[in-house]
Amino acid sequence: MKDFLFLLLVVTEASSRSHSSWCDLGCDCRGDLRFTICSRALIPQLPARVPPNTELLDLSDNHISVIPERSLSKNRKIRVLLLQNNNISVVEDGGFSQLEFLQKLDLSWNQISTLTEGFSIGLAFLRELQLAHNRLTSLDSRSFLHLDGLQRLNLTSNSIHTIQIRSFSSMSSLRQLHLEGNQLTSLRSGIFSMLRSLEVLNLGGNQISETEPGVFKPLVSMTLLNLANNHMSTVQFKTFLSIHTYSTHILLEDNPWNCDCDLQRVFRKLRSIQRLFLDDYYNLTCKEPAVLEDYRLMDVDTELCLAETVTVLIITATVVITVLAAMLMGERKRKKKKRGSTGRSRGSCRMSRTTETQLLNHVAILFYFFNSLFSSKERRLK
Ligand SMILES: *[C@@H]1O[C@H](CO)[C@@H](O)[C@H](O)[C@H]1NC(C)=O
Ligand SMILES: *[C@@H]1O[C@H](CO)[C@@H](O)[C@H](O)[C@H]1NC(C)=O
Ligand SMILES: *[C@@H]1O[C@H](CO)[C@@H](O)[C@H](O)[C@H]1NC(C)=O
Repeated sequence: MKDFLFLLLVVTEASSRSHSSWCDLGCDCRGDLRFTICSRALIPQLPARVPPNTELLDLSDNHISVIPERSLSKNRKIRVLLLQNNNISVVEDGGFSQLEFLQKLDLSWNQISTLTEGFSIGLAFLRELQLAHNRLTSLDSRSFLHLDGLQRLNLTSNSIHTIQIRSFSSMSSLRQLHLEGNQLTSLRSGIFSMLRSLEVLNLGGNQISETEPGVFKPLVSMTLLNLANNHMSTVQFKTFLSIHTYSTHILLEDNPWNCDCDLQRVFRKLRSIQRLFLDDYYNLTCKEPAVLEDYRLMDVDTELCLAETVTVLIITATVVITVLAAMLMGERKRKKKKRGSTGRSRGSCRMSRTTETQLLNHVAILFYFFNSLFSSKERRLK
């Protein structure tokens, strides 16, 4: 009995000592430390151990700048680690490898500029990775290599300008990819390969002007594609046609659209595809051509292309006239020749000359009609 009491005493003391070291750090020590809250405690580096019961460790708003190799000792309990708003610029290889069952890691608002292969070692159970507001500039096939189970990846507001092919290739469970507020200028096909579970792809607020036609093809589960607020002036029909999903909402607002007839044709065809929903189509505005600046795409829809159709008609009419004229001339010459050789009566000749004049009159009227139609359209557009 005595022994038992003694043992109990030692255990309590030991545990209260480990508690007290955390309390000394400035953590909130109420409760059993299942949720260890050490936010805003001026902590300069990661503590060596985690209280044994901890499932959530909040170290946000501190001064931590390095995640050393194998930090926080071996731990099978901890599920959530919050490190946002520190000064972390270096994550050493295997920095999180001891946290076997970690599910959520928040590293947003830090200074991380590269993700090495070692960064993700041991994080096979991670579901959510927050990396918004860091200094990442490029992603490659090693950046997320060991994150097989990841479902949500937030890379908002970094400076990412390059995504190499297969950067996300290990993440077949990923459902949400947030890349808004970066510096992407083009989307090459292959960069999203293997993301067959991806539902939300947020690319808003970049500088994207080019999208290769096959780039969205692997995204067979995508329900939302946000391309608003980019630098797109035109887009190929094939780019969106290749999206083979049950239904996908696409956002395209705040782009400098060049509302020429090609673009209008693309949008007319896109709107007829049942599985695609252009939610903000009514908000798309033109940047070019200059005469259409600030017009809504839907408002210029027919006018411009009608003008174009008229141009085509005029050209066709001109060609027809030329051909007809040439035929008539040929006919006349032939008749003259015939008359010269056989000396026929003048009646039929007068007759054919009248038909000729009538025909030319008709043609002239037609030409005038098309011409005035075209110029009135032109005027209306100005
Ligand atoms: C952040 O880390 C850098 C070195 O990486 C250091 O120079 C700077 O003083 C740190 N800032 C704060 C607020 O701790
Ligand atoms: C991504 O990070 C930003 C900045 O921290 C945050 O505002 C946003 O809610 C996050 N989005 C998701 C889906 O986690
Ligand atoms: C269109 O723009 C207006 C004003 O900016 C906004 O309130 C509305 O939500 C937008 N509609 C869509 C579908 O995005």
